[in-house]
Amino acid sequence: MPTTPGLSVRRAALRLLDAVFRRGETLEIAEGAALSSIRTAPDRALARAIASETLRWLTDIDALIDSVTKQRLPDDAKVRMVLRIMLAQALRLDTPPHAVIATGLPLLAGGPRRLAHGVFSTLVKPGVSVLPDAPTLPPAVVARWAEERATAIAPGLAFPPELDLALKDTGETETRAVAMGGITLAPGHVRLPRGAAVESLADFKAGDWWVQDIAASIPARLLGEGANDSGAKNALDLCAAPGGKTMQLAAAGWNVTALDSSKRRLELLKDNLKRTGLKASPVRADALVWEPKHRFDAILIDAPCTATGTCRRHPDVLHRIGARQIPEMVELQRGLIARATEWLNPGGVMVYAVCSLEAEEGESQAAWIEANCGLTPMPIMADELPAGLTPTPEGWLRTHPGMLVDHGGLDGFFVARWVKP
Ligand SMILES: C[S@@+](CC[C@H](N)C(=O)[O-])C[C@H]1O[C@@H](n2cnc3c(N)ncnc32)[C@H](O)[C@@H]1O
Repeated sequence: MPTTPGLSVRRAALRLLDAVFRRGETLEIAEGAALSSIRTAPDRALARAIASETLRWLTDIDALIDSVTKQRLPDDAKVRMVLRIMLAQALRLDTPPHAVIATGLPLLAGGPRRLAHGVFSTLVKPGVSVLPDAPTLPPAVVARWAEERATAIAPGLAFPPELDLALKDTGETETRAVAMGGITLAPGHVRLPRGAAVESLADFKAGDWWVQDIAASIPARLLGEGANDSGAKNALDLCAAPGGKTMQLAAAGWNVTALDSSKRRLELLKDNLKRTGLKASPVRADALVWEPKHRFDAILIDAPCTATGTCRRHPDVLHRIGARQIPEMVELQRGLIARATEWLNPGGVMVYAVCSLEAEEGESQAAWIEANCGLTPMPIMADELPAGLTPTPEGWLRTHPGMLVDHGGLDGFFVARWVKP
């Protein structure tokens, strides 16, 4: 029997959403199984975009659905899920309504197709449904981030992020930015319009750059150059894979030990080193039990975290992560910090970073380090940061997606730095 073209892509988008809502998986993990039957890269990208835009605008899309149904459809009802992806396509991806209907209603075979048709047709009438400029965040997220900060962050979530590259040779920043049609916000950084196909960009195979959000590039920048008159100094990248910060440190002349507990992610790190021709010593180990053979002049702890700061590119975190996941991350981060503190040479520098917007993993952890770890604060200075970012009064850095929004925004990070007396 002939199938409607595009139906399998919509089924795959529903599978992605099911993995996020029912199993709490990240979209990235869910893709392995959910997209396995989708053959072409554009179709996989479309399934991903439908699921991502649904998650990004979920609160607003649900409010639209609820505004025209007499009885509230249960959150997990299939008809609500199908309407969500239909509206995400019509209102965010500019898919023509007739194509949305043709690929949406068959998903409800034997179910309330008339209801879905009626709701969708009402909502897509010209002028009826207008999404706000910025997505409305789920109430639980607003409660965690506090109203004022959530309001500042939301405009940065309206679109997927642009594409940031980190250059191996910071001396090439201006010429590469111009040649690639991008802009630069800091030495070694080039920003390209969203949607660029990474592997087809100039010099991908040559390994002259790697993909890294500008906020993610700041922690390694704060360790400075890794070589002095007596040679390369030793740095430990404690949670290193897939290796964005390891490559920055290696390019800055550090002799890097790149440790991570994940075999799969460490393989990605090795592939990245191979492609870029940068050198580091990968170690697969659990940092909570590993013992180093020597001490380090610098340690970067890019700690495992809830990753809510990556919500622009991974809107699933807005719905997967709740207050209950934060304490176990805080405990793991403290375990890693306590061990790393022992491994620093006197005068050695430690940078702690998380791509999280949760104060418990950022500001509160920094306060805990200052009270418990015997380290001296080494405040971050404004002239070490991309223009437009400023340190907090404590000398820490807090970024969020609503910052630098006129230049395309950035991920949410917390970063702080100390020196061992
Ligand atoms: C935020 S990611 C690191 C990203 C990486 N620094 C980069 O820039 O590409 C955190 C990493 O911590 C690793 N990790 C989690 N628990 C760990 C542990 N106990 N020991 C070592 N690595 C761990 C995870 O496998 C993950 O790769």
